[in-house]
Amino acid sequence: MPTPILNSSDEMPNEPDTKLPLNIVLVGFMATGKTTIGRRLARKAGFKFIDCDHEIEKQQGMKISEIFSDHGEEHFRQLEAEYLQSLRDKQSLVISTGGGVVTHEEARKILPTLGYVVWLHAKKREIHERIMRNTNRPLVRTLDPWKTIKTLLKQRKPQYKKVAHLKIKTHGLDINETVQGILDSACYHFASQRRATEQLCAESTPNDE
Ligand code: S3P
Repeated sequence: MPTPILNSSDEMPNEPDTKLPLNIVLVGFMATGKTTIGRRLARKAGFKFIDCDHEIEKQQGMKISEIFSDHGEEHFRQLEAEYLQSLRDKQSLVISTGGGVVTHEEARKILPTLGYVVWLHAKKREIHERIMRNTNRPLVRTLDPWKTIKTLLKQRKPQYKKVAHLKIKTHGLDINETVQGILDSACYHFASQRRATEQLCAESTPNDE
């Protein structure tokens, strides 16, 4: 394993508890590269990679498509929100979320508290092409997937915006450039946070006089 670039124990003070945990959370529409980028990012940062869809499938012993068909979308959203809750207090993770996680109000509240949230954005055409290569996603198994993608994107864009600290347009970037961009930005964010925390602690030191 490479030397971690972001090191939770050395870099981050434990006080105060309002600080953002040292994790990177990837959000974004289906087929924007969250899993591929997330894996590479985790390797480079020396963090553990977590794919929420995969973890939920393991936990439930069912494929996502089966959860949708047997129990419905709302049930799946609840499972996603509960899974995110279970990640509270964890550190040194790269967390890749399902594309629709932001549609659930509870999940939207939890996401920005879990770590530095990065919204991966790709062009509609690219998303469509990639989705058509893989038929696993229940929500786009419709008569007109292109129309479904456009509708869902329009609904979800404001929700991604609400939870994300950073938006990355992946178009025109290769995977290494995207990963490096996220890491640089996350390092900057966590370093600024550390400085702000130190300043806050210094300012709030009780005066003996
Ligand atoms: C979904 C995206 C999928 C998966 C489920 C629902 C969505 O994850 O969670 O099929 O509503 O956009 P990916 O974004 O990894 O494809």
